[in-house]
Amino acid sequence: MAINERETRLMEKGSKKYYLKTYGCQMNELDSSQMGRLLKKEGFLATQTPEEADLILINTCSIREKASQKLYSDIGRFRSLKLQRPDLLLGVAGCQAQAEGIQLKKRFAYLDFILGPDHHQKISEVIKKTSEQPSFAAQLGFAQPKDYQFVNLLPDEEENQVKAFVTIMKGCDNFCSFCIVPYVRGREVCRSAEDIVSEVKQLAELGVKEVTLLGQNVNSYGMGRHRLEEKTHSKKPGVISFTQLLKRISQETDIQRIRFTTSHPKDFPLELMEEFASNPKLAQHFHLPVQSGSNEVLKNMYRGYSYEEYLSLIENFRKLAPEASLSTDIIVGFPGETEADFQKTLQLLKEVQFDSIYSFHYSVRPKTTAANYFKDDVPLETKKERLLRLQTLQNEITLKRNQKYIGKELKVLVEGASKQSSVIKDNSFCGRSSQNHMLHFKGEESDIGQIISIKVTHAGPNSMLGEKYGN
Ligand code: 5AD
Ligand code: SF4
Repeated sequence: MAINERETRLMEKGSKKYYLKTYGCQMNELDSSQMGRLLKKEGFLATQTPEEADLILINTCSIREKASQKLYSDIGRFRSLKLQRPDLLLGVAGCQAQAEGIQLKKRFAYLDFILGPDHHQKISEVIKKTSEQPSFAAQLGFAQPKDYQFVNLLPDEEENQVKAFVTIMKGCDNFCSFCIVPYVRGREVCRSAEDIVSEVKQLAELGVKEVTLLGQNVNSYGMGRHRLEEKTHSKKPGVISFTQLLKRISQETDIQRIRFTTSHPKDFPLELMEEFASNPKLAQHFHLPVQSGSNEVLKNMYRGYSYEEYLSLIENFRKLAPEASLSTDIIVGFPGETEADFQKTLQLLKEVQFDSIYSFHYSVRPKTTAANYFKDDVPLETKKERLLRLQTLQNEITLKRNQKYIGKELKVLVEGASKQSSVIKDNSFCGRSSQNHMLHFKGEESDIGQIISIKVTHAGPNSMLGEKYGN
């Protein structure tokens, strides 16, 4: 995060500083920005340098084992700072804090606090308590779904955001056998539509052009056991579906572009596909994790659909929304995955022709059904080798699909100046197309925050170059 002028001045006056490191998904990014805003209210300013921080906060992810290892090395790295300056506060927030709980304190005695993902809004309270009277603080566990409060602080004008995340639900009730999320983020709770629409309205008034609606299963919005946040919704009862929520946001706010993530293939009704195809405010990109192409593996993952059902969803979707891009998540090396199972995943990639994928090799997560009942029997070498074959195939597909856009015009929301490494040397700006491609082009400051037409001139696997076109 850039430190603006006002912040620099305040720093010179000797304000307290926080260093915040974020791992993981967009939900963690949003939680971190919320904690940052709360800390700012307490007079803290952001710093990029841990050595000058009064508070070091690590917002963690536990989705795969690697994430936990990163946390340990971080906490170890900050130990010497803590020894030099005992009044420095060191805290761990997020999913790994919830997963390990006070075991973390046992391992790293110098930790000052841990904060589970349901408690990130208590950051100010925890900081005050621990700095006034040095003692270890832990806020863990989950509120009853009916008592859960969605707290959201809007960005201030100085943040000057072009796009923003908006939580529409939290937690997950799906319990896919490999996944730790239901154990670290708790049960699914939906936020009231009133609250969501009101937040999007306010964001649009602040100049935000694009929102991404966040949840583990956004397309199950309104369908779970704990449908709505009862307290804030009591004046206007009634359950609405995800499609109806999208309609309300589009009609009742001035937001220009709406994205959402993540969706689950088991809840993808025709009405959502039709809305996606006909609503011009919906960005033309759908992320629909499939995880595997093998029916045997899908069954053991508890995903609730088969290869054939997934494919038929995609076929119907593409008929209605041929311009949309598609991405997915894949896990290789799930317990029991044979070479033949893996071949089915490769076949799926060839058949669907995703625009991009996120791929991982399976890692055992504590408490999950797979950890308890399935043997992690695919050797690491095989997992790595399958991942490489999968990614090599997908890189070819991605490049081919991106190159189809050469000569075409894409609508790009300009986010800011490109990083220096960009191919265009001067006045290089960047932004995302509706289909979610990153584009670089020669532009000007006033393009930032505008949706402009860019003609694609060059397409690589990760980004495209283009020229401003008929704006
Ligand atoms: N091992 C590997 N990948 C996992 N994911 C979730 N749990 C695991 C695990 N235990 C992947 C899934 C999910 C994405 C967010 O992370 O593909 O969709
Ligand atoms: Fe994890 Fe499955 Fe829930 Fe996604 S839907 S968060 S993969 S349990």
